[in-house]
Amino acid sequence: MNLKVAVLSGDGIGPEVILQAKKALYAVGVVYEHDFIFEDALIGAVALDKTGSSLPEQTLNLCLNTDAVLLGAIGDPKYGVDTASDSGPENGLLKLRKELGLFANIRPLKPFKGLLDVSPLKREIVEGVDFVIYRELTAGIYFGEKKLNASGTVASDLCEYSEDEITRIAHLAFQSAQKRRKKLTLVDMANVLESSRLWRKVVKKISTDYPDVVLDFLFADNAAKQIISNPKQFDVILTGNLFGDMLSDEASVITGSIGVLPSASLGGKNALFEPVHGSYPHAKGRNIANPFAAILSAAMLLEHFGLTEEAKKIYEGVEKAIEYNVVTIDLNSDTKFGTNEVGEFVSNFILNKDDLMYF
Ligand code: IPM
Ligand code: MN
Repeated sequence: MNLKVAVLSGDGIGPEVILQAKKALYAVGVVYEHDFIFEDALIGAVALDKTGSSLPEQTLNLCLNTDAVLLGAIGDPKYGVDTASDSGPENGLLKLRKELGLFANIRPLKPFKGLLDVSPLKREIVEGVDFVIYRELTAGIYFGEKKLNASGTVASDLCEYSEDEITRIAHLAFQSAQKRRKKLTLVDMANVLESSRLWRKVVKKISTDYPDVVLDFLFADNAAKQIISNPKQFDVILTGNLFGDMLSDEASVITGSIGVLPSASLGGKNALFEPVHGSYPHAKGRNIANPFAAILSAAMLLEHFGLTEEAKKIYEGVEKAIEYNVVTIDLNSDTKFGTNEVGEFVSNFILNKDDLMYF
């Protein structure tokens, strides 16, 4: 298979972890005879520094004309949060999601067997957890009208959802539930928010198309608690943009580190794959960032194009690294391995190299 992949490494640890993901894809290409053509482009703070825009025209055009986008991380403290509204680095990512029509962000959460004791949660809570968050990604409070009054003392962000925006992601979430354990939980604040009441109404209506899926509802505050106290109950969680962002960071506690969580953003013609974690500026250039989330995002990319066996091989490489304790410091405080060594181990595994023992 020929795949053209736009690589947007972005800021902070982005370039380091993406390099490891590229190595894994390269190894898959060699072993399974695929041609992955990578094309790098700028986004985020690095793009702002070099071009004055967090999403240069050239980057957007490249992404619109590739099969997939592999993205690292966005954000640099030097830009603060004051400029975040329309000129900060984050805006580049938000704009890219919107322009590519990536309305569904899929964040699977299944702890690795070898990491069950790394989580601060009790083993019996973590073992057997397997759910996926469908986070709406191009509407809601992230994209509603923002206002600040003239004296800078009153501000607002509009949380708006249309029936269509809810419908399209709801179908994807129900279809996923049908292939899984057939349970869908809508997380909202329908006790308070009008937009949430619309979510409930629309999702209830759509559920009649999926009679084999059990639908239930949770208020977001309760969901935040249940994700930590009883995460095994969940199969597919469907929610809006802001709740989805918050709940997925929270859910990372189950796996032991946010450094192992990948995501796929789908919807339009293009698809984008990125780690759930941020740019972790403090770790930049120190060879300590966990590359698993980026590597597993590459696996999700393969899966998306039907390369199931190849994706599985990457996943097994990560499992093997964990088994051999070839992990970064977030997973083992005594580790002697860094980003590079961990990534190298996974790509060597994919290449079936027999020198894994040296680790
Ligand atoms: C994420 C990030 C982004 C978001 C930021 C960087 C805009 O936190 O992808 O989870 O909130 O969507
Ligand atoms: Mn986030």
